[in-house]
Formats: sequence, C-alpha cells, structure tokens
Amino acid sequence: MKAAVVTTFDQAPHYQDFTLPDQLGPNEMVVDVIAAGIHPRVRSQAEGSHYTSTDDLPLVPGIDGVARAADGTLRYFILPDTSLGSMAEQTIIDVRRSVRLPEGADPVQIAAAMNPAMSSWIALRRRIDFQPGQSVMIMGATGNAGRLAVQVARRLDAGRVIAVGRGADRLAELGADATVALDDDPQTVAEQLGEAGKDVDVVIDYLWGQPTRDALYAIVPRRTDHNQSLTWIEVGSVAGLDSPIPSAALRATRLQIVGSGQGSVATRDIVTELGELANAVNSAAFTIRARAITLDKVEYAWSEAANETDRIVITPQS
Ligand SMILES: NC(=O)c1ccc[n+]([C@@H]2O[C@H](COP(=O)([O-])OP(=O)(O)OC[C@H]3O[C@@H](n4cnc5c(N)ncnc54)[C@H](OP(=O)(O)O)[C@@H]3O)[C@@H](O)[C@H]2O)c1
Repeated sequence: MKAAVVTTFDQAPHYQDFTLPDQLGPNEMVVDVIAAGIHPRVRSQAEGSHYTSTDDLPLVPGIDGVARAADGTLRYFILPDTSLGSMAEQTIIDVRRSVRLPEGADPVQIAAAMNPAMSSWIALRRRIDFQPGQSVMIMGATGNAGRLAVQVARRLDAGRVIAVGRGADRLAELGADATVALDDDPQTVAEQLGEAGKDVDVVIDYLWGQPTRDALYAIVPRRTDHNQSLTWIEVGSVAGLDSPIPSAALRATRLQIVGSGQGSVATRDIVTELGELANAVNSAAFTIRARAITLDKVEYAWSEAANETDRIVITPQS
C-alpha cells in the first residue's frame, strides 16, 4: 500500500510503498483511512521533536483520523505512539480507541476538528473541575485550537470568554466577550490583559513563552479577589517551550498551573470523551476551516500546512 513515509527528520514525508505488519494484536483491525489531519502534533512527530518522539525510522506520521472498517462502519480513531500512523491508505487501529460515526458524517471536518477541539474539551472536562458560569481566557485564540476553544467554552456553559492573540480583526471574528490583541503596543497590552484577567477563573494557554510571563505580570497584581482561584492550563507552546513564571504570582494569588495533553490525561479519559465530542463536531456545533489534499501530494500538503491557517487534511482514498 501507499503511505506518507518519513525516512529522515529533516525532510517532509514522501509518498511511497509501505508494508503493513502481518500480525494484529488483540482488539486491533486494519482499516481504510479516509481522512487524517496534519495537526501541529503530527508535524512535530514527523520532525522528531515531539516530547513523545523516539528516533525510530521509517515512520508514517498521523495520530488520528476517520476510517472505514472492514465491517463497513465509519470510525474516528486515535492511535497510540506508533511508527504506523494515519497518513496511509490503510492503518491498524485498536477498536477501543475509536468511535463509530453516523453515515453522512463529513470525514474531512471530523479529521480536521477533533484534535484541536479536544485540546480545550479535555482540558475543561477532564483536567480541572470546571463549573458552568466560570470565565475562560484563551491565550492564542486565533489558531485552530484557540478558535475551537472559544466555541467549546461556550458549549460547556462558560460565563465570560476572553480571546487573546495576534490580530485585532481576526480576534473580533471569534465571538468572544472581550479580546486582547498582543501585537498592540506593550503598555496597552499589559493594561488590557490586566483588565480582562482581573476576574478570570480559567486560562487555556496555547502560547507559553514570553506571552505567558507577560500575562501573569499584567494579571496577578490586578486580581480583584486574591482568594479567587486562577487555574492556568498549559496546552500548547507555539510562542516558546519555556516560560519564566514570576515567583510572586504563585504567592500573591491562588494560581494553579496544570498541563493538559497526552500523558497528563489518562488515555481512558480521552477515549471516554470521543463520542460526545465527535457528535458535537458532526452536528456542526464546532466549525473549522479545512482543506483536503490527496495522499499522493503529501509533500505539497506538508508545505501548505506550514503556511496555511486552514487545517490541511490528507485523504488517502481519493
Ligand atoms: N495538549 C493538547 O491536547 C493539544 C491538542 C491540540 C493542539 N495542541 C497544541 O496547541 C497549539 C496550537 O495548536 P493549533 O492546532 O491551534 O495550531 P495552529 O492552527 O497552527 O495555530 C497556531 C496559532 O498560534 C499563533 N501564534 C504563534 N506564535 C504566536 C505568538 N508568539 N503570539 C501569539 N500567537 C502566536 C498563530 O497566530 P498567527 O496567525 O498570528 O501567526 C496561530 O494562530 C500547538 O502547540 C499544538 O501542539 C495541544
């Protein structure tokens, strides 16, 4: 069969032959992959830079997707850490890590939206004790995961939703109650972050790095009630792998910093959430801009994914 194959971490995957293993484990099945998203996590997997990466090559990238099983069912699946990912005509799934989709579900939308939507859905439902009515600030709200986080927070009955990111015009389109444009002048940004964050309950952070440090410096001294919990969920790090956290922030207010992702959330908890999240995506409760590109054009797709804001989805069966 054909697959996108990484043979060296400094090059995009190539479209070439790849042989499926002939042994299947318990609960495993071979499926025909219909759609698989090129998420940031997939790109870091293919570059060997994700925190779960091993140096094993060759590697077929892809962590999730939509597939047709041999019994005819349409399924969304997530894969374990494996060198046989979803960017292939066929892959091997563990049926327990998959959910059945209704016929008529849009495979490209599901493959595009599930991973970025899961980042906030799981964080709010599985990583903290989120209560309806609590306010949520999203750091990095213009990316796919951030845009979906605004929608997820609304769906989970958040109170005030604040979108923080670059580009005032793009932020204004998100439907948040307040926005902070990080590319404004630094003093204005600090004032706006302080005002927006003074009563916030939960921060979902896709940025980390300098913006997180700056936000804490701006928000903590402005807290209206220092006994009100401020739960900061680290989910992504597009602005920096490390962030200098001001020590005083941890002493001066009830700040808790937690992470949410593969490892800090149990796989069984993630799998439990897949069905409800897939239903929400399928019912168009959450929308994402996605573009399908066939598997044989995977090198072109990789370069598009690096530059494009729409989520690129590989479609092996087209
Ligand atoms: N832990 C989890 O469960 C989980 C799940 C999914 C995703 N993630 C992580 O979440 C992050 C975002 O994913 P995504 O799918 O949204 O990626 P994406 O669609 O590529 O969006 C990335 C966004 O980051 C913004 N950005 C980059 N550098 C920035 C900076 N210095 N300041 C402000 N904004 C900046 C970009 O804004 P511009 O348009 O202004 O450049 C872009 O909108 C990634 O790190 C991903 O790995 C984590």
